[in-house]
Amino acid sequence: MRKIALLGAGFIARFYADSIHGLRSRDRITVVYARNGESASRFAEDYRIGKWTDSMEAAVNDPDADMVLIALPNFLHEAAVMACVKAKKAVLCTKPLGRNADEALRMLKAVEEAGIFHGYLEDLVYIPKTQKAIQSVRKGALGQVLWTRSRETHPGPHSDWFWDSEAAGGGAIIDLGCHCIQIGRNYIGKDVRPIEVMCWADTLVKPIDAEDNAIGLVRYDNGAVSQFEVSWTFRGGMDLRDEVMGSEGTIWINNFLRTGFEMYTSGAADAYVAEKSETNQGWVFPVGDEVHELGYNVMFGDMFDAFESKKEPAETFYDGYVVNAVMDAAYRSAKSRQWEPVELEVWRGGESTGKKELMKDYDDEHYLIKEETTHYGVVKLILKHKKTGKLIEVEKQADR
Ligand SMILES: NC(=O)c1ccc[n+]([C@@H]2O[C@H](COP(=O)([O-])OP(=O)(O)OC[C@H]3O[C@@H](n4cnc5c(N)ncnc54)[C@H](O)[C@@H]3O)[C@@H](O)[C@H]2O)c1
Repeated sequence: MRKIALLGAGFIARFYADSIHGLRSRDRITVVYARNGESASRFAEDYRIGKWTDSMEAAVNDPDADMVLIALPNFLHEAAVMACVKAKKAVLCTKPLGRNADEALRMLKAVEEAGIFHGYLEDLVYIPKTQKAIQSVRKGALGQVLWTRSRETHPGPHSDWFWDSEAAGGGAIIDLGCHCIQIGRNYIGKDVRPIEVMCWADTLVKPIDAEDNAIGLVRYDNGAVSQFEVSWTFRGGMDLRDEVMGSEGTIWINNFLRTGFEMYTSGAADAYVAEKSETNQGWVFPVGDEVHELGYNVMFGDMFDAFESKKEPAETFYDGYVVNAVMDAAYRSAKSRQWEPVELEVWRGGESTGKKELMKDYDDEHYLIKEETTHYGVVKLILKHKKTGKLIEVEKQADR
């Protein structure tokens, strides 16, 4: 049984509490902290938590809690982590770990020096569908991963501080790109070093300093490319989609707007549909169990199991740091309009392997470039001579 001090009583804290106190869970939140006592006490009542406080220190040092869960705005993550380090308490932190890689690295070093358990709460890699997809990729079902694409777009976040680039550390990239980048890393392989980033970012709609739209390409050491697409101005709900293209296969996942549940309503009931849904009338796309479908249950299962068996969870502060470093490069690239290197003072993955040889032999003299059965009954082979480099086309009759 885990006993948790929860820092924050806002939007994500409620998803976390729904997950931790969900079904017949043994795990309990022992104390909840919010900046405003009234909101902490309302939260404590809603989730039947015995204690609430408006002092972060008091919550972290709650003698009944053996783990701290940080669900605070981005600008408070570092201070909260340092309070856990001081108290020598295990700590889980929501995404993004830091507002930049410097903050993230300070947090990583501090928890490691203190020898405390640390988990990075990147829920979207724990989505059951994504977990299964990652397993298939790791077993080789897709061959060599060449390209990943991850998209998170919605009509914008729900609290004022997200829109303040200083408090949040940026805009849509820091808020949503962190998910997409870590999804890409999980498919390409966390051992493979992200080398450089090319990113376009702009403020197209909202009256803010930060970017409200961005697209980035992260190039990895083995030649793979991971694309992220983020927006705070997308209309129509929350679009969470991932694609993986490998030398032997493809995966397409739609996590939210089309989960196989489609409903028409005249709007007769003023009902909740799904996170960031813009309408509850007409054709709507509800999500059956958001807490599960967004990965929170599997994520806390991994975190608590790892803590109890004295192992590392699948996502640690180190992962949060790498993601922050990739986002820093994205911000530099959006300004310079050039590929910018990912600066990783600490890299714990593999050595450089370069691109893998994927060419297929046709016979001793030729490589096979392409084989296609046409609609007119001919199989076409495109071959390349290994020595001369000459390209030839060979036709044979298809078996009927
Ligand atoms: N899928 C996800 O993993 C996910 C989703 C949403 C948010 N988040 C992350 O969770 C964190 C919190 O986001 P949220 O959406 O719950 O925010 P929120 O604004 O809904 O809640 C913030 C909480 O922090 C508390 N707080 C303490 N000091 C504060 C201060 N000075 N200013 C503002 N709030 C203060 C508030 O009382 C509130 O309980 C962020 O880091 C965000 O990126 C993660």
